[in-house]
Amino acid sequence: MRRERIIPYRGKNIIVRFTIDRCTHVAECLMGLPDVFDTRRQPWVSPDAASPDEVAEVIERCPTGALHYKRLDGGPEESIPDQNTLTLVQNGPLYARGDLLIESADGTPLFRDTRVGFCRCGASKHNPFCDNRHDLVDFEERGRFQHTAPVTGVPGPVRKGVLRIRLSADGPLILSGPMEIIDSDGRSGFRGNRAALCRCGASKNHPFCDGSHKAAGFRSE
Ligand code: FES
Repeated sequence: MRRERIIPYRGKNIIVRFTIDRCTHVAECLMGLPDVFDTRRQPWVSPDAASPDEVAEVIERCPTGALHYKRLDGGPEESIPDQNTLTLVQNGPLYARGDLLIESADGTPLFRDTRVGFCRCGASKHNPFCDNRHDLVDFEERGRFQHTAPVTGVPGPVRKGVLRIRLSADGPLILSGPMEIIDSDGRSGFRGNRAALCRCGASKNHPFCDGSHKAAGFRSE
């Protein structure tokens, strides 16, 4: 995983941190607070153009984790959601939200976050993150559950707790911890504690890995 470039925008009451390579232009920020976030302007972030509460609320809508903040006014920092959710986007990425610990293939902790957009198509040049290449490769996957083969997951109750996401070498995301997976229509499709999720785009049993990454020659780095 390459080093991320983070640009801070400092206001009187809040610092906005922008991770360039994780932005896929979902535009929640531009739509939510156009006075603060405006790509036609330099710098494109004006943290003082709204209250720190408003800036924080809009930043927390960013599903990729490209935006974070640090309060300077004593206001609350971003809280960790009670439950870990993974949402499938039709023909697009997987949005994870919760108490997320991302680990390398050998289990070394890489970073912790509350929001991450993971590549599902296998074409990203910025693995494990989505970089919108699913559009270039015409990735077609409806974001639904296809139970055509045994599910590579262990069902269980959804509790509070850390969700560990291991980036297996040339293979799936290996998840362990309480989680709920939600399809592109907003329906819950899986609740459990263990799952292997496809990130090569070739599985016939989305969102789960079915081993097709080997035949597809998927390379994760
Ligand atoms: S990662 Fe896609 S089938 Fe295993």
